[in-house]
Amino acid sequence: MSDTWNEGYFTDEGYTYSYSREINPVFQRYCLLLRGFASLESSESYHCELGFGQGVSINIHAAANPGSYVGTDFTPSQAAFASTLASDWNSDARLYDDSFAQLLARNDLPQFDSISLHGIWTWVSRDNQQLIVEFARRHLKPGGMLYVSYNCFPGWSPAAPLRNLFSLHDRFTKSASAGPDQRIDAALQFSEALLAANPNYASSVPNLDAKLQSIKGQNRQYIAHEYFNRSWDCMYFTDVVDAMAPAKLDYVTTAVPLDSVDPLNLRPEGMDFLEGIEHPIMREQARDYFVNQSFRRDLYVRGATRLSTAEQRQALFNTRFILLQAPESVPVHVRGPAGEASLQTEIYGPVLEALTANNYAPKTLRQLSAAASSLASDDVLQALNVLIGMNAVAPCQSEAAEKGVQARCNDLNLELCKRSLLNDKIQVLASPVTGGGITVSRFEQLFLIAIKHGQEHPAEWAQLAWAILGEQGEVLVRDGAPLASAEENIAELTLSAQVFASNKLVILRALNIV
Ligand SMILES: C[S@@+](CC[C@H](N)C(=O)[O-])C[C@H]1O[C@@H](n2cnc3c(N)ncnc32)[C@H](O)[C@@H]1O
Repeated sequence: MSDTWNEGYFTDEGYTYSYSREINPVFQRYCLLLRGFASLESSESYHCELGFGQGVSINIHAAANPGSYVGTDFTPSQAAFASTLASDWNSDARLYDDSFAQLLARNDLPQFDSISLHGIWTWVSRDNQQLIVEFARRHLKPGGMLYVSYNCFPGWSPAAPLRNLFSLHDRFTKSASAGPDQRIDAALQFSEALLAANPNYASSVPNLDAKLQSIKGQNRQYIAHEYFNRSWDCMYFTDVVDAMAPAKLDYVTTAVPLDSVDPLNLRPEGMDFLEGIEHPIMREQARDYFVNQSFRRDLYVRGATRLSTAEQRQALFNTRFILLQAPESVPVHVRGPAGEASLQTEIYGPVLEALTANNYAPKTLRQLSAAASSLASDDVLQALNVLIGMNAVAPCQSEAAEKGVQARCNDLNLELCKRSLLNDKIQVLASPVTGGGITVSRFEQLFLIAIKHGQEHPAEWAQLAWAILGEQGEVLVRDGAPLASAEENIAELTLSAQVFASNKLVILRALNIV
C-alpha cells in the first residue's frame, strides 16, 4: 500500500475497535457542570471527531446524541470501516478520510458544539497541531467544547527515552519484508536487550524493565499507534494551554470526574501546597507533579462561562444518573495517585441501593438524595463521582433527548448485534439514556439476538450462541484451557447466559438498549 499520505504516522497496522466515553458530549457536559461551567445543549447540535480511528465511538455518539456528526480519519481502511457501519444503520454522519489539512480546506462544514480528539494531539506533528487549532478557531461555536487527550510530562519523563528507542529501531533497521508485528517485536526485543546490558540510563530509572514488560503485554495494534509514529511530541499541560490560545480556548477541567475528589489524588501536604497557588493554570500544572501525570484528558471551552452556585446546584440536582453494574460487583476499594481508599459502606450502601431501586431506572440527584436521606447531598454527589470514575455509574441526558435518539440507537444496536454473528470486533452498544456506549460482549450480543427471536430461557440463548460459534470453529476457554466438546461449550455458555439474565439484562433494559 502506498503510504506517501501518512505523514510518518504508523498506518501499517489498523487501530483497535475501542470506545471512549470521554468523547460523549453528555459526559463532557457533565464534567463542565461538575466544575460549575456552562455548556451548549440543543437538539440541533453539531459535533466533530478528529482522527476517529475505526469509528466505533463516533458511530455510537452519532446514534445516541441529538444532532449531527462530522468526523475524519486519514487512514482510508479505517474511514471505510467507519462509514460502512454508519451507512448500515442509515446514519447521516459525514465521515471522511481527509487529513486534517484537507478537512480544514472544506467549505461545507458547520459550526460545531463540540470538537473531540482522543489519542491524536501528541502523536501528530506540530504542523498538524496548528491545523487542529485553526480548525477549532474556524469551526467551534462560541461556548463550544473541545476535548483533547495527550501524553504529558512529568509522568512520561523517565520512560520517554524508551519509546524513542522503539521508534529509532524501527526507522534504522526496518526490513522491507517484515510485517508490522515483526517490526514491533524486533524493536521491543532490541530495547529489552539494551536494558539487559545495564546502560546507566536503566540504573537511573526505577522499574524500567517492568514498564517494558507491561508494554510487551499490550495489544500490537495499540503498541503500533502509541509508540511507533514518527511524531511523538509529549508535552506539559501548559504547552497545550498555550497552543489552544489562538482558537480562544480556555482550559476548564479534565474529563475525569475522579479528579474532583482530592483525597484520592493528593496527600495533605500536596493539597496544602496547591491551595497556596493562586493562578489556576500554574496550580493545575503543579498538580501534575504531585500526581505524576503521564496522560491528560482535558476539556477546553471557547469562552468559558461560570454558572452561579444556584445555577450549578439546580442543574446538578436535575441531572439523572444510572448504575451500570450490579451493586454487589462494584469494587469496595478505589485507587488514585494518592493511594487506595475503601468505599465507606455507610455512604455507598444507601447510594447504590437508591440507584438500584425500580429496576435500575435512572434517577436525578434530587431523587437519589431524597432516597439516601441519611446523607448530605454533597456526599451523595461525591459518591456518584467516585462511581462514575470507576465506570460503575454514568450521567444521563435529558428524557427529551433520550426519546429523540431511541430509534437510531435501535438501528445501530441491531446492526452491531448482526455483526456479532460474524466477529467480535465491536463489543459495545449505544444507550439513548447515557448518550454513550456500554460494553456488551460478543456472547452477550448473541444472547440479545436470541431474546429478539423470542427465546426466553438462558439455555436457549446458549444454544443459539453455540450454533454460531461452533460453526465458525470457535471454542470457549475456561481457566486458560480451550473447551473441546460441544457439551462443555454449551454448559459454559449456559452459565454465562444465566449470569447475563440475572445481572445484566435488567441494566440493559434500564439503559434502553433492550
Ligand atoms: C491513536 S489513533 C486514535 C484513534 C481514535 N481517536 C481512538 O482513540 O480510538 C490516531 C488516529 O489518528 C489518525 N490520524 C493521524 N494523523 C492524522 C491526520 N493528519 N489527519 C487525519 N487523521 C490522522 C490515524 O489514522 C489514527 O487512526
